[in-house]
Amino acid sequence: MRYLIILTVCLFVAVYADHLIVGNVSNRVVLANQTKVEYNAIPFMKRVKYFFYSQTDNRLIQGIQALDTLHSKASINITAGGVGYSYVNLRLKSERGRGLSYDIGIYVQDYFYH
Ligand SMILES: *[C@@H]1O[C@H](CO)[C@@H](O)[C@H](O)[C@H]1NC(C)=O
Ligand SMILES: *[C@@H]1O[C@H](CO)[C@@H](O)[C@H](O)[C@H]1NC(C)=O
Ligand SMILES: *[C@@H]1O[C@H](CO)[C@@H](O)[C@H](O)[C@H]1NC(C)=O
Repeated sequence: MRYLIILTVCLFVAVYADHLIVGNVSNRVVLANQTKVEYNAIPFMKRVKYFFYSQTDNRLIQGIQALDTLHSKASINITAGGVGYSYVNLRLKSERGRGLSYDIGIYVQDYFYH
């Protein structure tokens, strides 16, 4: 008799939703950069775009808020950097045949509280 036990442990740690809100976006932080990222739809295609932000002073990113203003099935995740870093790279993927429209806010520590 043979037992075949396949144990698949799937640990999927990803922020995968139409909205992405990580870290602090309200407590003792200031909006360092707000960018509206917009791309037109291409029929039958999913669009993949990257948004890179790098802080010019030495303050680290405290929070990131990215809102899907189309309320579509687009997804967004962090591919590099993020909260605790001075930079972030975001990967945006549209719903098939739809455009991308994200309102991205990058929050950093307020000088006042340093
Ligand atoms: C957000 O800020 C508050 C107040 O400064 C702090 O207590 C909390 O730990 C912070 N949360 C995160 C996720 O950084
Ligand atoms: C915000 O960041 C984007 C991407 O890095 C940049 O193109 C834009 O100029 C910045 N806006 C401001 C007001 O600094
Ligand atoms: C972001 O999503 C893409 C596509 O699903 C995936 O390849 C990538 O590993 C994800 N990145 C993170 C940090 O989860």
